[in-house]
Amino acid sequence: MCGIVGYIGEQQASPILMEGLHQLEYRGYDSAGIALASRGELKVFKSKGKVRNLERLLTAQPEGTLGIAHTRWATHGEPSDRNAHPHCDTQNRYAIVHNGIVENAAALRAQLESKGVVFRSETDSEVIAHLIAAMQAHSLADAVRATLRLIVGTYGLAVIDAQRPDSIVVARNGSPVILGIGEREMFVASDVSALVRHTQQVVHLNDGDVAVVRADGYETFTLDGGPISRAPLAIDWQFESLTKGDFSHFMRKEIAEQPEAIRRVLSGRLETRFSTTHLGGLELAARELLEAKRVKILGCGSAYIAGCVGAQLIEQLARIPAHAEPASEFRYRNPVIEADTLYIAVSQSGETFDTLSAVQEVKRKGARVFGIINSVGSTIARECGRGIYLHAGPEVAVVSTKTFTSTAVAFALFAIYLGRLRDLSAANGARLLNALSALPAQVEAILAQEDRIASIATAFAKTRDAYFVGRAAGYPVAMEGALKLKEVSYVHAEAYPASELKHGPLALIAPDTPTLVVLPRDDLFAKNVSTIEEIRARRGPTYVVTHPQPLPVAVDGVIEVPKSEPEFDPILLNIPLQLLAYHTALARGTDIDQPRNLAKSVTVE
Ligand code: F6R
Repeated sequence: MCGIVGYIGEQQASPILMEGLHQLEYRGYDSAGIALASRGELKVFKSKGKVRNLERLLTAQPEGTLGIAHTRWATHGEPSDRNAHPHCDTQNRYAIVHNGIVENAAALRAQLESKGVVFRSETDSEVIAHLIAAMQAHSLADAVRATLRLIVGTYGLAVIDAQRPDSIVVARNGSPVILGIGEREMFVASDVSALVRHTQQVVHLNDGDVAVVRADGYETFTLDGGPISRAPLAIDWQFESLTKGDFSHFMRKEIAEQPEAIRRVLSGRLETRFSTTHLGGLELAARELLEAKRVKILGCGSAYIAGCVGAQLIEQLARIPAHAEPASEFRYRNPVIEADTLYIAVSQSGETFDTLSAVQEVKRKGARVFGIINSVGSTIARECGRGIYLHAGPEVAVVSTKTFTSTAVAFALFAIYLGRLRDLSAANGARLLNALSALPAQVEAILAQEDRIASIATAFAKTRDAYFVGRAAGYPVAMEGALKLKEVSYVHAEAYPASELKHGPLALIAPDTPTLVVLPRDDLFAKNVSTIEEIRARRGPTYVVTHPQPLPVAVDGVIEVPKSEPEFDPILLNIPLQLLAYHTALARGTDIDQPRNLAKSVTVE
């Protein structure tokens, strides 16, 4: 959740590091710091709060062509200047930045204190700096390796030595570290977004790797010092996609990018000749897919909810039992893993620790798993080894919007593919391909209704609690709508299957509690109308997201979306709820792109 960035080369490091910190700020942001090596000494600056607070400390640009920097999301020790990284040894010779958790920090700290080391922070990470200083090693890499052999826990780590300013030593175990290759300069980061301004050539380290990064290149080793080879990979993210452009928030920009994101996930994948889809990255033979008896989808948060949409699509189109489960739950309950189940991991970042752990559990027990992932070359993508990339471009806002939609579309592609291997007719395949091609223009038509959605948002901005209900395909839409609203506006929002309302939550319906009803014109329309009647009988305000046709019931607000084929209605019904959350948050003045307590890439348990 914290962010690491490092630079070694011929340029002044501090502007590059500060710019990198701004790019990483969305990952975790309660404090930030920077350390530069210059003339045999370290210069360290740290500050609680946003990166701009740190910027204020750097009035004169500190000198140094080697440096590391960090944005912190507190785990051990409150957010404060002292607890911000980098941390240094007593002599201020070594500086470290660390993502992850040192589980045996208390014991290591006690040992170091008994030898007279005085700690300057409450963090678990500071022990690493003191241990490195205590090693009588030939090189910084040897000192880091010797230290890491004492550490129990997870790390993405970068270390510099002011007296040997020719390298950054980095190491990875459970927390991403990526190298960026420049012209006589090298970059280090925990996330490619900090690198794309400078290079498109990156190297992803694996767990257990240690790398020595010099201005003119890098070497990779195991923890025991044996050389290993890690080849560079080209990334296709452009720097422009990491800026807000004309939008005031990344969330709003990413909502607007959805027509293009859908075009990208569809690009080259519609096989009209056979009324099916083409998914080159799956690398699963038709026979293997035919053998699958069940599909299990794993992800967290919005990725899990997109998986719920996906499970329904797979069941409908391929007639295979499919089920989504939060990866965070799955990994802890000693799940039964079956060889004839196809597992699918969903993740935007490709770094979510719980999802990664679930994938590792599935693989360890010998089953097949593939990924639906946005971030190319990310840890989960590499762990799965095969799957579907979304190609949605970077998503910077903490809350997921365009990647939710792209994931649902990727599931549609997969469900059609699987369906056409089974009982889905060519006519139905063709009908669905046409519907997919129409989605981008339909999303544009929904975005054009922003003013109406913003006016409905004023009702949600005034409330403390809101309910979102939907039946069958409408239920995941309600779940995602409620999650978006609570994340960005801090309005308490709960999703219920509409049919469950009278089994409990109806007790909470009151004149000051709005309910958003997902009301597609499907075969459950009449039942959903009855639900609305029940809510109105308790004088609860009701708002609906529905298809354009007169309603047989009075409601307080209507948002209309164009009709797709019924299978894809959930994809479109969700879009206005993103705008509803955005405008509710705007009206309440919250920090939309960086909601409190949340981080984009949840790389801790
Ligand atoms: C919600 C949101 C989170 C993420 C979740 C998984 O708006 O963004 O719930 O969906 O943390 O993240 P990824 O997809 O990166 O695995």
